[in-house]
Amino acid sequence: MTDSPVHEGTSVTIDLAALPHDFLWGTATSAYQIEGAVAEDGRAPSIWDTFSHTPGKTAGGDHGDTACDHYHRWREDIDLMRRLGVNAYRLSIAWPRVVPDGDGPVNAKGLAFYDELIDGLLDAGITPSVTLYHWDLPQALQDRGGWPERDTAFAFADYVSVVAERLGDRVTHWATLNEPLCSAWIGHLEGTMAPGWTDLTAAVRASYHLLFGHGLAVRAVRAAAPGALIGIVNNLSTIHAATDRPEDLAAAHRMDGHTNRWWLDPVHGRGFPADMREAYGVELPEEPGDSAAIAAPLDWLGLNYYFPQTVADDPDGPAPYARAVRREGVPRTGMDWEIDASGIETLLLRLTQDYGARRLYVTENGSAFPDAVRPDGTVDDPERQDYLLRHLAACASAARKGAPLAGYFAWSLLDNFEWAYGYDKRFGLVHVDYATQRRTIKGTGHRYAEVVRTHRSQARRAA
Ligand code: FCB
Repeated sequence: MTDSPVHEGTSVTIDLAALPHDFLWGTATSAYQIEGAVAEDGRAPSIWDTFSHTPGKTAGGDHGDTACDHYHRWREDIDLMRRLGVNAYRLSIAWPRVVPDGDGPVNAKGLAFYDELIDGLLDAGITPSVTLYHWDLPQALQDRGGWPERDTAFAFADYVSVVAERLGDRVTHWATLNEPLCSAWIGHLEGTMAPGWTDLTAAVRASYHLLFGHGLAVRAVRAAAPGALIGIVNNLSTIHAATDRPEDLAAAHRMDGHTNRWWLDPVHGRGFPADMREAYGVELPEEPGDSAAIAAPLDWLGLNYYFPQTVADDPDGPAPYARAVRREGVPRTGMDWEIDASGIETLLLRLTQDYGARRLYVTENGSAFPDAVRPDGTVDDPERQDYLLRHLAACASAARKGAPLAGYFAWSLLDNFEWAYGYDKRFGLVHVDYATQRRTIKGTGHRYAEVVRTHRSQARRAA
């Protein structure tokens, strides 16, 4: 156990002994959010280049043209990971760097970048966990209809084969999709992420082809990299009804379907939830054999957890006809997201008990707060530290109760381009001064390093 005193006199105890000795302690990023170099070495635009350069779509008109300049500074960023003492790193590969047109010719320079990066990580003793799609669809494929079209799933599988054939001799941890919910629901229904549509039929078709593409991608990685551990990353939420009126309870069940079950059930061979099919009223573009492909066996599930949701019935609103209700008097992050560490434990246990997960990773978890570099050059971020420690404690508690948790990846290594929120929202363990690209490890980064060290020395003693 480690007692970690946090601000305001509270203290958090993390049951580190509940975590396996070979636990992966990592940080996470994604390509478009950190790389920059959007027009270099043959990379073509993705839907996020288009979206972020469309006036009014992102805060302050921010875009990822330079971001953290990781494309040029990755060696320095690996050094930062070394200083944090982490033994894992979750990154994503930019499809438009590797196959700029979405399908067709492979861009050797794009592949070479990831090849070198992977070698750099391995040399530093850091296990790479590679996500194959973190929202940056090649614009060329969007121009041909994007995820609402079946061909996009096949193009995805072809690109995945290229990557897995090149990196599969060294990369053992693979995720197909990051948060398909965001691609489908936020990108095609709510419209606040790329490609910015508000069309339920397109959104449901996109959700279907994302999961179909996931299934094809699993097959492609297995063929190229036998023995690889393959999973999918979902952002799940605990859902609460605003009242115990039957209408609100039903709305909470629908929101659970929309957020959680729609993404989990099909990959577990249960098909798309019947109640949600009915709620959407959109015919799925199913073809014989698809459901088996979608349910390709997985080695692990990734959980991205940020916040719980409270909802009420909203019959006249958009699908899933449940509106968010703001709870007053509860702590919130700088994103205005409610803080509830118990949610991560609940979800890890749900994945274990209801879905039979044999291996779990927390693939993202973290918080944005406004940070400032102090005159002495340090960044003190007690609220983020508190968030981190409470969520780690909840993860360890889930592990103690039987969740097969094998790793935790803090979101994020660096402050970065937070999608529609631009650069204002800072999630990093490391502060980035965008004018100079100077990196500064925040207090939370130092605290995380301490937790990792403590676990490691306990594990060594116990071995
Ligand atoms: C998740 C995304 C990640 C980051 C965090 C804050 O939804 O996967 O890229 O933006 O939220």
